[in-house]
Amino acid sequence: MMLELQNITKMYHHKDGLVNALYQVDLLIEKGSFVTITGPSGSGKTTLLLTIGGLLQPNIGKILFNGLKLDLGSESHMAEFRKQHIGYVMQSFALIPYLTATENVMVGYTNNSSNGTDKRAIATAVLDVVDLADRKNHYPRELSAGQQQRVAIARALVKKPTFILADEPTGNLDPALSVEILNLLKDINQEKGITVIMVTHSPAAANMGTVKIHLKDGKIVNS
Ligand SMILES: Nc1ncnc2c1ncn2[C@@H]1O[C@H](COP(=O)(O)OP(=O)(O)O)[C@@H](O)[C@H]1O
Ligand SMILES: [Mg+2]
Repeated sequence: MMLELQNITKMYHHKDGLVNALYQVDLLIEKGSFVTITGPSGSGKTTLLLTIGGLLQPNIGKILFNGLKLDLGSESHMAEFRKQHIGYVMQSFALIPYLTATENVMVGYTNNSSNGTDKRAIATAVLDVVDLADRKNHYPRELSAGQQQRVAIARALVKKPTFILADEPTGNLDPALSVEILNLLKDINQEKGITVIMVTHSPAAANMGTVKIHLKDGKIVNS
């Protein structure tokens, strides 16, 4: 057992009216699985990922982590959960332009007990894992799109998270680079045992999942 969502409903209050983004979603995510999430635009994929990552509070429902209930209403409890367990990878990379690859990875290292030199060494080692050791002093603008996404993955990886959550991580990449990034996520899942949860538009990418989820109008349906 690992992460269990029970009866999750999320509504957004918008000036144009209430939006039901997730409706009564139940989901069990086992340790070590590779979960892929597909569904039409607006079906609730990002909302589901943000809810799993403790970045968004559902209106109704419970989340259990290793059998213990997360205190979804407590910002400090959820911040601690995110810090310890969640690495996030976005479609747009979201690197900081004035930091080098190493320094961008250091941003993800939330263990305060290490000093600056240790952090730098740890970040450099993780850049090696994503095959970017030779680009560690490059700035984002000096890297290709695929390399930028590798830095973003290294930033998510450096804290040794329980989960890596990836929201359309290949959405801005051409097909060849997409395959590279998908293989990297697969390796991270298989070799490090990190549970990966990935939203994707690509049926081929979705097929990599050991668990495949399809969303429609905020509900999980059989694809
Ligand atoms: N912050 C928000 N405020 C209001 N409505 C939102 C907000 N974020 C998302 N939505 C709506 O919730 C639904 C689900 O959105 P989202 O989870 O982003 O879908 P997906 O990632 O599958 O495209 C959509 O109808 C979207 O318009
Ligand atoms: Mg989305």
